[in-house]
Amino acid sequence: MAQAVNMKNIVKRFGPVTANRGVDFSAEKGEVHALVGENGAGKSTLMNILYGLHSPDEGTIEVGGVPVVLTNPRVAIKHGIGMVHQHFKLVPSLTVAENIVLGSEPGNGLNFNRNVAFRQVRELSKTYDLDIDPGALVHDLPVGLRQRVEILKVLYRSVDVLILDEPTAVLTPQETEELFVNIRQLANSGKTVIFITHKLGEVMSVSDRVSIMRDGRIIKVTNTCDTSAEEIASDMVGRPVLFRVKKREAQPKQPILSVSKLVVDGSRGVEAVRGVGFEVRSGEIVGIAGVQGNGQDELIDALVGLRKPKAGKVTLNGHDITSCSPAIARDHGLSYIPADRMRDGLCLPASLWENAIAGHQRNPQLSRGPVLNIKECIRFTQELIDKFDIRGGSASTPSKALSGGNQQKLVAAREMSRNGEFIIADQPSRGVDIGAIEFMHNRLIAMRDEGTAILLVSADLDEILSVSDRILVLYKGEVVGEVPGAHASKDAIGRLMAGIRDEGGEQVV
Ligand SMILES: Nc1ncnc2c1ncn2[C@@H]1O[C@H](COP(=O)(O)OP(=O)(O)O)[C@@H](O)[C@H]1O
Ligand SMILES: [Mg+2]
Repeated sequence: MAQAVNMKNIVKRFGPVTANRGVDFSAEKGEVHALVGENGAGKSTLMNILYGLHSPDEGTIEVGGVPVVLTNPRVAIKHGIGMVHQHFKLVPSLTVAENIVLGSEPGNGLNFNRNVAFRQVRELSKTYDLDIDPGALVHDLPVGLRQRVEILKVLYRSVDVLILDEPTAVLTPQETEELFVNIRQLANSGKTVIFITHKLGEVMSVSDRVSIMRDGRIIKVTNTCDTSAEEIASDMVGRPVLFRVKKREAQPKQPILSVSKLVVDGSRGVEAVRGVGFEVRSGEIVGIAGVQGNGQDELIDALVGLRKPKAGKVTLNGHDITSCSPAIARDHGLSYIPADRMRDGLCLPASLWENAIAGHQRNPQLSRGPVLNIKECIRFTQELIDKFDIRGGSASTPSKALSGGNQQKLVAAREMSRNGEFIIADQPSRGVDIGAIEFMHNRLIAMRDEGTAILLVSADLDEILSVSDRILVLYKGEVVGEVPGAHASKDAIGRLMAGIRDEGGEQVV
C-alpha cells in the first residue's frame, strides 16, 4: 500500500516536558490507523504536529513520499491533512452548511452564496454517506451530529488524511457505532483515517493497524488482527492490566439518599425527569444506565442542587435537600464527580492545590478558621497527585496546564477524598485512560466497602455492569427497570434502554 504520511524522528519539547522523544510514525493510504496510549503519552502532540499546529524541534515529515514543512493548519490542509479535535470548534448559532464552508466560502467571501453552499454540503454528505441537514442550526444538534459536521468540514477541504483526536470520548455507544461505520466507509473510499483513542474495544473493532505510544515514544506498531486488547493494554500501561474489577458482595445498610416522585424540567421546559424514586444505601453502588438524553443530566443536576425540581423530594442523611444549594448539599455529605469536569469541576486558571482543596476548606488540617495553611494544602495536594497518579504538574502548576485526563483525575481525587457519605460519579471514566479507570473503579468499590453510598451514572454499559451492585435503567425520564448487578445481562439492559420492558416485550412510551 502507498504511504500517505511518514513522520521520522519527531522530537517536541514544551519547556521542561518532552512530549515526543524521537517518534517514527507512518500511515498508509486507505487504512484506519489507531494511535493509542495513556493520557500524556504524546498522541495529541504528534498529531498536532502533523496538522501544522506545532512545529517539531527535530524530525521530518513526508506526505505522499515528498518532504514537507507544515507551518500551520492551512499548509497541512493544502497537503491533504485535516484534523477534528476533541473539543469542537463550530459556531452554534450558524447552520450546518455555514459551519462547513466557513473559511472557504463559495462566492467571493463577502458574498456568501447560501444556495451553492447548501448544494455542496448535500453532495458532500451524499458522497461520504454522512447524512446531515445543511439548514439545521448546529446549536440544535446532538453531539454525534456536531462531530459529523466537523468531519464534513474537513472533507469539504478535500483532504486525504483525516485525523480524529479521541472522537468517541463524547459519544454514546450508538453514536460511536455510527461513527465507526462512517470511518470504515471513508477508508474504503481511499482516505486515511488516523484515530486517537485509549479505548481498546474501539481499536479492535475499527482499525487496520495500531501504533502504541508510551512516554513520548512509539513502542510498537502492529496489524490489529495480530494483537489483542489485553496485549495492547499492557503495552500501553507497561504492566498487565486486569479487565474486571474484583469486588465482594455488597453489604448495604441504612438508606443515605432517598429520592421520591421527583419531577424535573429540562432546559426546554419539557419534563425531563418524570416521577423518579429510588434509594441508595450505605455500602452499595447503584448504577444508572440509559442512552444519553433520557433525563440523567437533569436528575443529577437536581440531586446536586444545580436545578430546582418541580415536584418530589430528595433527602440525604435524613436532611431534606430538595431545592437546596450545592453548598448545602455538600455540607450534608454529598460529593460529586461531574461528567464535564472542565466546565463544572475546576477553576482552570487556579493552581492544582487551590482546586484540590475546594470544598475541603473546613478540614481543620488545612485551615484555622478562615486562614488557610498553605503548606498543609500543598502537602495534601501532593498526596492526591501521588495517590491518583496525576501527571503533568506540581501542586502549584495552573490546572489548565494539565491534559484533559489528568484534570479529570484531579477532580475525582478531590471528591473521592472528602469522605462524604454519598458520592455521585457521573461518567467517571469518560476521557480517562485505562490505568486510571481501573484505579477509579477500585477506589469506588473501596469507598463502598467503607460504607459510602454511591450513585454511578454512565453511558458506558460495561462500566455500569462491572461496578454496580444494582442497576436502574432510565428511559424518557422514568426508571423503567431495576436489575441486580451480579446477574445483569447486557442484552436485557440494552432492551430496557431502548424502552422495551421485559414482560411480554411491550414498548414503554
Ligand atoms: N501546549 C503545551 N504546553 C505544555 N505542555 C504540553 C502542551 N501540550 C502537551 N503538553 C504536555 O506534553 C505531554 C503529552 O501531551 P499530549 O500530547 O496531549 O498527550 P496525549 O494526547 O497522549 O494525552 C503531556 O505531559 C502534556 O502535559
Ligand atoms: Mg490527547
